[in-house]
Amino acid sequence: MSQNREQWGSKIGFILAASGSAVGIGNIWKYPSIAGENGGGAFTIVYLACILIVGLSIVVAEFVIGRKTQLSPVGAFEQLAPKTNWKWVGYLGVAAAFVILSFYGVVGGWILKYIVDSFSGGFIELSGNTKAAEATFNSFITSTLSPLIYQIIFMGLCIFVIIKGVKGGIEKWSKIMMPLIVVLLGALAIRGMTLDGGMAGISFLFNPRFEDLTASAIVLALGHSFFTVSLGMGTMITYGSYLNKKQNLVTSALWVIFLDTAIALLAGVAIFTTVFALGADPAQGPGLIFVILPSIFPQIAGGTVWATMFFVLLFMAALTSAISILEVVTAYFIDQKGWSRKKATVQFGGIITIVGVFCSLSLGAEVIDGNGQDVGHGINLTGFLGMSFFDFMDKLSAKYMLPIGGMLTAIFILKKWGLTNYMSELKIGMDKMDLSSLLVRALLTISASIVAFIIFNEIYFQITGKALIG
Ligand code: TRP
Repeated sequence: MSQNREQWGSKIGFILAASGSAVGIGNIWKYPSIAGENGGGAFTIVYLACILIVGLSIVVAEFVIGRKTQLSPVGAFEQLAPKTNWKWVGYLGVAAAFVILSFYGVVGGWILKYIVDSFSGGFIELSGNTKAAEATFNSFITSTLSPLIYQIIFMGLCIFVIIKGVKGGIEKWSKIMMPLIVVLLGALAIRGMTLDGGMAGISFLFNPRFEDLTASAIVLALGHSFFTVSLGMGTMITYGSYLNKKQNLVTSALWVIFLDTAIALLAGVAIFTTVFALGADPAQGPGLIFVILPSIFPQIAGGTVWATMFFVLLFMAALTSAISILEVVTAYFIDQKGWSRKKATVQFGGIITIVGVFCSLSLGAEVIDGNGQDVGHGINLTGFLGMSFFDFMDKLSAKYMLPIGGMLTAIFILKKWGLTNYMSELKIGMDKMDLSSLLVRALLTISASIVAFIIFNEIYFQITGKALIG
């Protein structure tokens, strides 16, 4: 363990950084759109249960491994299980970071473009016209150059923050941006609730419609509970490695999960109250943010300001998540290869940006014109992958890499490191709390089993075309 490893400046700084990682596009874009489509409150109940069982136990596990070893994932597994293959769980995490950040950076770029558009009044001509908003969005993301420019700016900002290090970069910016996200989202939620008919959005989001809660929605809730708290690739191991021994890791994890969930629910309220007040289609799925919102914001008083606020807060959420992904890669090269922070960040931030360029270009590969002709101009790998490279990277990480990483982390503690060792590190900093190791074992076992089932279900589906559930 190096004497001069960087450390968080304060407890609150650490909690804001870790929840900054957790709160991202997943909370503000994905949660509302999948909850809306899958039974509203019924989905939310399942999601909350998943977060409390699986999410909480694995966040704590990652914090414990990081704080114990003071190393990022590869080094951490190597230290706790020397000369075994467990370090591959760490490598899987670094690889997942590459995969996720490559497409996350592209979406980050879209958000920047939507800030510019909303601020400059570009949504006004889309007012009330979903078709036009959809055409605008599609033509932007499938075009060649302009999404790349925004993506490169977004990735440049990530690199800028990460070069400044743990305290001067990640912690500093999380402390600024996280409170702003809450304030802006709170204002949007209040605005939404006070619109005529806005309250119907709340009942849509929270009234349980169990008839819409299919088995596949349950699987979706589980998968999402992983992604939304940034699990399975060592983000929380890395953030935990900058901690000293004074913190209570269980309360810290509870804070992260609470903030993550609260912000997802608040985003749902802000979005659906507005959608319902203006009579738009709530079950739009992915189009909710980039298509529906631009077409309805101009219809409310001060719409330009509200729309800009929304995309600015979405940008801040995306940035505090993206930096946590880049930090996993940077920390690997610092800890294991002895590189300087600057060299690691610039080189690998650059490489990830280039992979992201391919993700972005893959979206323009198939553009069918009015005569059914493919006039696409991007990079077409669809024949080879069965989907665009962008979707491939998304599915590869969310469906396989993260769940596998999270499951192996739980198994590692139960089978390799041992519960006794785990509990003795976990208890440091927990003076007033008592935790039964039986409960911890049960939670880790349940989490690993649930996740194993999901992975198996997905692989079974890929092979046979039929899922066991879902
Ligand atoms: N949790 C973030 C979101 O909800 C995304 C994210 C950041 C992430 N770091 C991660 C997901 C690590 C998985 C693993 O958008």
